Amino acid sequence: NIARLEELGYRVVRPDSGELACGTEGPGRLPDADRLVEEVRAVLAPKDLAGRHVLVSAGPTREPIDPVRCVTNRSSGRMGYAVAACARRRGATVTLVTGPTALAPPAGCEVVAVETAEEMNQAMRSRVTSADVVVMVAAVADYRPVDVAPAKLKKKSEGLTVRMERTPDILSGLASARGSRVLVGFAAETEQVRENALDKLKRKGLDLIVANDVSCPDRGFDVDTNAALLIDCNGEEEETGLLSKEQLADRILDRVVALLAGSGRRRVANRRR
Ligand code: CTP
Repeated sequence: NIARLEELGYRVVRPDSGELACGTEGPGRLPDADRLVEEVRAVLAPKDLAGRHVLVSAGPTREPIDPVRCVTNRSSGRMGYAVAACARRRGATVTLVTGPTALAPPAGCEVVAVETAEEMNQAMRSRVTSADVVVMVAAVADYRPVDVAPAKLKKKSEGLTVRMERTPDILSGLASARGSRVLVGFAAETEQVRENALDKLKRKGLDLIVANDVSCPDRGFDVDTNAALLIDCNGEEEETGLLSKEQLADRILDRVVALLAGSGRRRVANRRR
């Protein structure tokens, strides 16, 4: 029986429930192909993040102007969802804090849906203490409207000025009470990618930064592929070349595993704030 197989270490995918060929309803349907593929990928992945809790943020944030309008950006969430899925396959317990996206939730992850930068900040801060690794992939809005109109703004003949204020820098806030956890940030740049990424790595007190040039059409926002420059706090750099977002997610997690393991002491010694 299934319990015995699981006891023996087999991974059992239980059948889906629904209408059966014999006319009754209940468990007995072949699970979705996507679910089966995901289970096979999870079985085949190395379990080098087993016992670790990985907290990932993904997607854009949405800052309201009035009940029907908002300020947001073109992030699809795909890169963050890929990091969450790959971390889970590698054995981690994963919490994904996500802004609004059109993506299906990744299998086996705890998903926390948020809208604004402030909500994302609260969601991350309240979960960070149990995390061993934080990967901040979300494209957080840097500004939000100062006043949110309670009713839909009616148009007038003159233009509209929306006064904006800064949102909290979530990653910097997490870095200030980091403990021994590994902190990974992203840098979306359109020029001087390496210089800007190095500056963010130091300024935000990170262990690893994933920099990409979002001015190229085949990488960064809203596409399936990405190419990045990975720079860690020990000064090691790696240009990944063009990869799928899942392949890039695994490269990032390879670096995270290395940072969690042997290089830990060096990492702390070299960390610049
Ligand atoms: N980030 C964050 N909170 C913000 C803005 C950004 O936590 N309010 C995080 C992002 O998730 C990313 C990293 O900081 O991991 C860098 O984001 P990016 O937009 O590239 O840089 P900014 O800090 O916003 O700086 P700038 O806009 O000047 O490039």
